[in-house]
Amino acid sequence: MSEAHGAATVYVTRALPEAAMTRLEEADDVRLVVNPHDRPVTREELLAGAGECAALICQLVDGIDEELLAAAPGLKVVANYAVGYDNVDVAAATARRIPVTNTPGVLTDATADHTWALLLAAARRVVEGDRLVRDGRWRGWAPQLLLGRGVAGKTLGIVGLGRIGLAVARRAQGFGMRILYASRRVRPLPPEVTAERVPLERLLAEADFVSVHVPLGEQTRHLIGAAALEAMKPSAYLINTARGPVVDEAALVAALEAGSLAGAALDVFEEEPAVHPGLLGRDDVVLAPHTASATLEARTAMGRIAVDNALAVLRGQRPASCVNPEVFD
Ligand code: GLV
Ligand code: GLV
Repeated sequence: MSEAHGAATVYVTRALPEAAMTRLEEADDVRLVVNPHDRPVTREELLAGAGECAALICQLVDGIDEELLAAAPGLKVVANYAVGYDNVDVAAATARRIPVTNTPGVLTDATADHTWALLLAAARRVVEGDRLVRDGRWRGWAPQLLLGRGVAGKTLGIVGLGRIGLAVARRAQGFGMRILYASRRVRPLPPEVTAERVPLERLLAEADFVSVHVPLGEQTRHLIGAAALEAMKPSAYLINTARGPVVDEAALVAALEAGSLAGAALDVFEEEPAVHPGLLGRDDVVLAPHTASATLEARTAMGRIAVDNALAVLRGQRPASCVNPEVFD
């Protein structure tokens, strides 16, 4: 830890991959304070730490709201270690002219890969098969054992065509799928991607796989609720690697129980780490512990970006990825 005179305090709410921590430790204009525990900070710890720091490097589980900002008079930057920033009250930060930064781009491929891992795991019953083998219940090859659904020639519906949605679409081309997407923005597609922009209702009615890639906000909370699930084909699967509250978990359980969709694969949940009990016992659901960006490469790059964003602001420069750049006007 550096104790240089006039050093700015950087508070890290959860230790980042080593390369990012080393970058901070080696900065001689930084006084580093790190949550010493292998768990998220409590609200009290977060308030106390933020109250003492100039730069806050925080996690998607840390609620950065008006109360916290008010308790942090010296705060100059909120550097979120995630691409999503629904945990930050950006309007409140903007009102205080505090830049909020995220880590876009570097986790796009990791998240798209994980989306495909989950999609294929659900369609091909990979987790069920693993359990069968481990439990000693496998009696050998059988013509009707664990029949899943193919993906070639099927329709993939991508809800939200940002960086990650587009990366999922690119992969779908290789699997020979037809691609529909629903998006508020019209954006030019790269030449290698063929996809049709349709209203969400049509996407839900036609897709064999619906994959969610929108950020969480007031417009998207419970976007996939009872009505949307009802609109899906009974043979369709839902994949969510975005944010838990975009899907109404209770409605999803009800839809699965009613047989109005074939299955789901979820990386994110409404009340993490709690999972709706109605999902836990179901073989037609694949569950992952919010690990879509969890590759060594992506998490290391996210750490580098979060640290660089924080240091840039402390050094009077513009951070590379700021979600409220108007604070610099
Ligand atoms: C992870 O969920 C992220 O937003 O980076
Ligand atoms: C996030 O990176 C997105 O735009 O999908």
